Amino acid sequence: MFPKKPPMGFNTWNTFAENISDEMIRQTADAMVEKGLLAAGYEYLVIDDCWSERQRDPVTDKIIPDHNKFPNGMKAVSDYVHSKGLKFGMYSCAGVRTCADYPASYDHEFLDARTFAEYGADFLKYDYCYKPHQADGPTLYRRISMALKASGRDILLSACNWGCDNVHDWIRSTGAGMFRSTGDINDSFVSFRDIFLSQIENFKLSGPGCFNDIDMLTVGMRNRGNVAASGCTDVEYRTEFALWCMFAAPLMLGCDVRNIDDVTLKLVTNPYLLRINQDEEGRPPFIVREGHENKRNIYARVLSENELAIMFTNLTDDRAGQIWFALDEIGIPVSSGKGLALTNAFTGEPAGTVREGFGMPLDAHDCAVFLAKIVDA
Ligand code: GLA
Repeated sequence: MFPKKPPMGFNTWNTFAENISDEMIRQTADAMVEKGLLAAGYEYLVIDDCWSERQRDPVTDKIIPDHNKFPNGMKAVSDYVHSKGLKFGMYSCAGVRTCADYPASYDHEFLDARTFAEYGADFLKYDYCYKPHQADGPTLYRRISMALKASGRDILLSACNWGCDNVHDWIRSTGAGMFRSTGDINDSFVSFRDIFLSQIENFKLSGPGCFNDIDMLTVGMRNRGNVAASGCTDVEYRTEFALWCMFAAPLMLGCDVRNIDDVTLKLVTNPYLLRINQDEEGRPPFIVREGHENKRNIYARVLSENELAIMFTNLTDDRAGQIWFALDEIGIPVSSGKGLALTNAFTGEPAGTVREGFGMPLDAHDCAVFLAKIVDA
């Protein structure tokens, strides 16, 4: 499945790791609908690692769901998820064991793809642990992709090899619809900042059909759950979410959506930021102004419908007095007679029309994002 827009959903790993169950997945499905997350576009509910028994079935050789965590089997869970209007995601790995040491799909790709299809899976996250060293990574991703195709079900392949082995060179040839380009995120400013900065040069290779996945969001985790670290402030979570939106990264929530707080819910359903993330043209942003080794950059991204998105970032630990750029730098000189009518993407409020340029001070770790219409000025 080749997604036209960055996939959106929820994944169990960041908060729950092995603490997953039939009940927890059903509650999450309920919450995604009741809290308006599905309506905002978060459609995939993905079960990450730790869902199976430790060994394959000795007779059928199939991976079998953990009897205690999923006593009704996986098809029943998937049916429930589908009954809510959501799509269902599963997890496996290209190696012989998953990262948390459960059976994985190496040399069982066609059998496992059929199993996932039987479950009714719409999405498969495919990790990279315990790969036999003689095995060729790109071939393993191509193999699982062919196996998913052969299963007869339309299943989005979400590759997860952490950017190893020059993934950008071959990932599109595998048929993956998204691909993890970085190591694992944790719930801290430094983690999401460094993950983001490591991919600045690579987003130009991301777009409709195959999106660069910079990991599940930690937004709203508030230092609870599996990848808890130092936690983030509201300003930092806002910056994380805005970066993911600006760069058309897949939006996979990692907080416990059953208990999502109001600030987080408002942020992750913000229609202006989601409009940027989900823009149908899917063009990458470009750097308008570079500063402090990419930590105080200004980015612009041309959207469909005569609009741009403009983002000011301050990922340094110090307040920035004034970050400013001229419209000329994005190709709109004063001589064009055009200007930009701005909307603050965080509040939805009009922020005036600018002709020559504009800028602002920014606190440490903060950002500003605008939707900008090209108008006569
Ligand atoms: C790897 C992946 C994570 C998660 C874990 C599960 O570390 O990068 O996103 O899936 O495995 O064990």
